[in-house]
Amino acid sequence: MIKNINNVLKLFFITLLFVAIFNCSAIASFKIVDSIDSPNRDVKINFLLSENGEIAYSVLFKNKKIIDISTLGFTFKNIPSIKDNLKVITTKKTTYNNEWEMPFGENHFIKNNYNKLTVLLGEKTDSQRQLSIIFRAYNDGIGFRYYFPEQENLKNVYILEENTQFKLTGDHEAWWIPGDWDIYEHLYNHTKFSEIDAISKRNNPDLAASYIPINAVSTPVTMKTSDKLYLAFHEAALVDYSSMTLRINKDDLSMDSTLVGTDRKDYKVEKSTPFYTPWRVIQIGEKAGDLIESNIILNLNEPNKLGDVSWIKPMKYVGIWWEMHLGISTWDYAGSQDMSTFMSTNPEPTGKHGATTENAKKYIDFASLNNIKGVLVEGWNIGWEYWRNEKDREHAFDFVTPYPDYDLEEVVNYAKSKNVDLIMHHETSASVENYEQHQDEAYSLMESLDLHSVKTGYVGSIIPKGEYHHGQYMVNHYVNTAKKAAEYKIALDVHEPIVPTGLRRTYPNLLSAEGARGQEFNAWATDGGNPPNHNPTLAFTRLLAGPMDFTPGIFDIKLRKKTDNPYNNRVHTTLSQQLALYVVFYSPVQMAADLVENYEGHPVLQFIRDVPVDWETTKVLNGEVGEYVTIARKQRDSDNWFIGSVTNEKARDFNIPLNFLDRFKRYTATIYEDGEDAHWDNNPTSYNIRKIKVNRSSNIRLHLAPGGGAAISILKD
Ligand code: NOJ
Ligand code: CA
Repeated sequence: MIKNINNVLKLFFITLLFVAIFNCSAIASFKIVDSIDSPNRDVKINFLLSENGEIAYSVLFKNKKIIDISTLGFTFKNIPSIKDNLKVITTKKTTYNNEWEMPFGENHFIKNNYNKLTVLLGEKTDSQRQLSIIFRAYNDGIGFRYYFPEQENLKNVYILEENTQFKLTGDHEAWWIPGDWDIYEHLYNHTKFSEIDAISKRNNPDLAASYIPINAVSTPVTMKTSDKLYLAFHEAALVDYSSMTLRINKDDLSMDSTLVGTDRKDYKVEKSTPFYTPWRVIQIGEKAGDLIESNIILNLNEPNKLGDVSWIKPMKYVGIWWEMHLGISTWDYAGSQDMSTFMSTNPEPTGKHGATTENAKKYIDFASLNNIKGVLVEGWNIGWEYWRNEKDREHAFDFVTPYPDYDLEEVVNYAKSKNVDLIMHHETSASVENYEQHQDEAYSLMESLDLHSVKTGYVGSIIPKGEYHHGQYMVNHYVNTAKKAAEYKIALDVHEPIVPTGLRRTYPNLLSAEGARGQEFNAWATDGGNPPNHNPTLAFTRLLAGPMDFTPGIFDIKLRKKTDNPYNNRVHTTLSQQLALYVVFYSPVQMAADLVENYEGHPVLQFIRDVPVDWETTKVLNGEVGEYVTIARKQRDSDNWFIGSVTNEKARDFNIPLNFLDRFKRYTATIYEDGEDAHWDNNPTSYNIRKIKVNRSSNIRLHLAPGGGAAISILKD
């Protein structure tokens, strides 16, 4: 008996020893080959190699590990994976320090300063395939990407998966949406990393297309560590590749790149050497606001390829839009029909069509009187009777034929006479080939009318069937569309897009995009709309990727004009927060989304008249993800400043020092704030307007109501 126990114990200890040795060797066998630091030395990237020739990286911030040893590699179709048996051929380090100018943006000049490490690797096996990994260390984060040079043993490459790992150092707080291959229009979730459950977000009744294959998240995904560091994971320069989602591994607190695939192919990405992958990016901040001020995504993209872009006009706009979302009017002219009956029977109008010549003129008059440059008209072209019918959807739109009650030329000329620009609308019904076939004709029509911007949309699952919104096929479609539109001097505001990856630096006509749950959900979502924490979450998640066409500015918070309201839809903010969003959410096209009659004669409309869309500099004054944020921006080519501050369901008091103002100038600040008794729920439209003289040594005290906000214009005297 005693002997037996001894044996059992022996076996137990031998097993323990074995496990310990095995585990150690798995970790210890990685050795640092080379490292680079950010210019200020806060951020360090290590490149590591194991005895088996596996490759990995790790990241430190102020000497503390923030990404543990994380492996890299690829799985291909028909040929062996690249994951081990690699040796370092050369390493090379360089430094870059420059500044570039944005034609328009949240900043005028952007500093681009980084240290770069390029590691050229080769296989020790017979095939001797090569790849490089290029790391850039910035003060505000890191980026790395793979490069496959042209080579004999690797020509056409069919990628099954990119195996880039992100090994976290703790069970961080995370703000995430599911890794949906078709849409980003989900509410953000705030959980511990180990509690991420993307699968539970399937079957959302408000999404026209949605596919969440595994427990993964979309990027940007934002995290906060127990050391109060802020991390955001995303990608930059996504061209001719699939979007990356991040698979959640709860047991070792890691994420793996998981590319969006296609049902039409048995691989996810098709490339031929030489090629670069998109950048994998981690933004790092000691304050939540550092993430918003970071320019790393833009800096990882190529400079402007379009040359003179003075024809691109950032602008505020109004439009025939919200009235359809409220059910007051319709996109269609003749009620729901089949394509065949509509074409052959010339059906009677319902009288509810929104896009009439007369209505467009009403919006144009309003825009021209209120310092608003653009007017969007949705539902102007035939096809809306049957665009959601599965059998008609493919060829629903031709993008050139107006409804009989809409005189396109007359509207354009009327707009011109009032110094207003019409914004075209192309809803594609996600029928991509149909849109591609009509693009030249549609853009030529715009060219002939001297129109330079279009809002596009891709509602529904992609045709051709089997493709997903965020796969390589669509990545290419969106980039090709930007290039083609540029040939016609047309700028794009893409709805149901791929979330931005900084390509607006290269193609500045990629003006803005949706790519998140915008204001429209307040009008009809079956859950009633966006909760009060939605906007202070978007600012630190989706908006890190680039501009968003959120469509702020709803004054009639309770949607009194909505025809029927089975889900109690409404806006879940105060009126003042709606104003603050013009500053908090950057977009070079910014809608004043409400109905003209809700604006006319309203005292706070003055803020929308004054607020610009193009900025010299941006400063984040305070913020916590999902809780509150205050941003100050200086108007481009002007001495004026604007401040926007928003909070979630909690009331807040802030003291805002104006020490960023010019030392020698005097200003008048107009503060649009929540009334003392304001509350997003029961008293959302209580506001107060206060005017004070300020200078650089002034402070402004702000009180934000629950779900509230404040907007301030600081105009030079
Ligand atoms: C969805 C877009 O987000 C919305 O703005 C647009 O009105 C509809 N699609 C129709 O195109
Ligand atoms: Ca949408």
